[in-house]
Amino acid sequence: MNIGIIGSGNLGSGLGSLWAKKGHKIIFSYSRNLDKLNALAADNPGAKTGTPAEAVKNSEVIILSVKWENIHDALKAAGPMNGKILIDCTNPVSPDMSSLSIGHTTSGAEEVAKMVTGARVVQAFNTLCADVYHSDSRLFGSRRPTMFYCGDEPQAKSVVFDLINELGLEPVDAGPLKNARYIEPLAMLMLQIGYLQGSGTNIAISLIRR
Ligand SMILES: NC(=O)c1ccc[n+]([C@@H]2O[C@H](COP(=O)([O-])OP(=O)(O)OC[C@H]3O[C@@H](n4cnc5c(N)ncnc54)[C@H](OP(=O)(O)O)[C@@H]3O)[C@@H](O)[C@H]2O)c1
Repeated sequence: MNIGIIGSGNLGSGLGSLWAKKGHKIIFSYSRNLDKLNALAADNPGAKTGTPAEAVKNSEVIILSVKWENIHDALKAAGPMNGKILIDCTNPVSPDMSSLSIGHTTSGAEEVAKMVTGARVVQAFNTLCADVYHSDSRLFGSRRPTMFYCGDEPQAKSVVFDLINELGLEPVDAGPLKNARYIEPLAMLMLQIGYLQGSGTNIAISLIRR
């Protein structure tokens, strides 16, 4: 599958590199440093670089992994996404990382869905720290981290299910896109525990059942 990455920083580079190793064709985009982007592509089999618009045009699945303050700029550079699956991995975290900028009556994912033209938006990959993707394994002991995902389109969600599974994470369907209102605070909790409470970022959520 062709996967376009918009935002090739900590998260986008980690996800793209793992999928490249699984045989997907990755297009890394959106950076102020083209040398860094080219080096990232060179490190990954079959990967290329391009503009956000090229990444969208040449991919079936688009990963949005930019800081919240860059959302408008990145989506403007990406252009229309008619029929594409857009996986929103972002969290609407304030620039000083102290709070979520929006919530309760909407979510970052719902706002992203309003901003893009024609994309089928699914939220995923926003509750696990990027360090886990850059580690040798996704396993914590024998357990896979849970990855919640939400969206309104069953076919798009089934593609995201497979992409989560391929990374060695446990996909858990969290319902419609509006449930991003509950997932994003969970991501914020992970950020608080990892950075402010001193746990470090090699942490993960695992849903247990009986
Ligand atoms: N990092 C995590 O652990 C993690 C986990 C879950 C969710 N998330 C979410 O994922 C999103 C990305 O986080 P991140 O940590 O990956 O951020 P990051 O490392 O700062 O990556 C952001 C990307 O945007 C690019 N960028 C920033 N400003 C730009 C500009 N003006 N023009 C062009 N490119 C620009 C950066 O490129 P250059 O810096 O190379 O220019 C980089 O490729 C955030 O919404 C975050 O909440 C992150």
